Amino acid sequence: MIYSPTMPEENAYHVAVEDTTATAPTEEAEEPIAVRLASANVEAGAASAKKCAACHTFDAGNENKIGPGLYDVYGRPGGTHPGFSYSEAMAAHNVPWDAEQLDHFLKSPKTYIPGTKMAFAGISKPNERADVIAYLHSLNPNAPALPTAEAAPAAEAPATPDEATPDADKTIEEAPAQTPEQGG
Ligand code: HEC
Repeated sequence: MIYSPTMPEENAYHVAVEDTTATAPTEEAEEPIAVRLASANVEAGAASAKKCAACHTFDAGNENKIGPGLYDVYGRPGGTHPGFSYSEAMAAHNVPWDAEQLDHFLKSPKTYIPGTKMAFAGISKPNERADVIAYLHSLNPNAPALPTAEAAPAAEAPATPDEATPDADKTIEEAPAQTPEQGG
């Protein structure tokens, strides 16, 4: 067997091309609520919910103030707490509050349910909303389970290694830059 000499692989440079256009920050860049809930903090949520306390109660008494009692709101159909006079929009909503819906509603109540009489601008920070939702969930002993990250749609599939596609490798051949010396 005769082996022909091969060039050492070290002379081929792999060029990693970074795609910067795909990572431009946008408002859409929020992680799914199920992912944020995995690292949510109930105590931080309780602290954050102080800004709701002017209008809502959170204890088992579940009394109405300016807004309906929120003790069992996680899993409760919207607009159905006894004794509270809801807006038409909220009464019509009538879907059990889950993490996904609370996330949308608490981000911007009037955008999610136009016509709501909840006079609250919203919580813009995605992780703060997750904390508040975890807190609301923790209050209700009969609340349905929180969504888990596994059940959420995969936002980013891991990139497949490109070792099986050698044609995609880009190589730069070093051109000899040396000029012969004119010694003399
Ligand atoms: C200025 C008063 C006010 C503040 C502050 C406020 N809310 Fe409300 N909230 C209301 C009112 C009023 C309603 C009833 C809305 C309707 O009928 O359209 C409501 C409704 C709700 C509902 C729907 C309840 C149901 O029975 O369907 C949820 C959930 C909720 N609020 C959560 C919160 C959370 C969490 C906060 C704090 C981050 C908050 N609210 C802050 C007044 C307020």
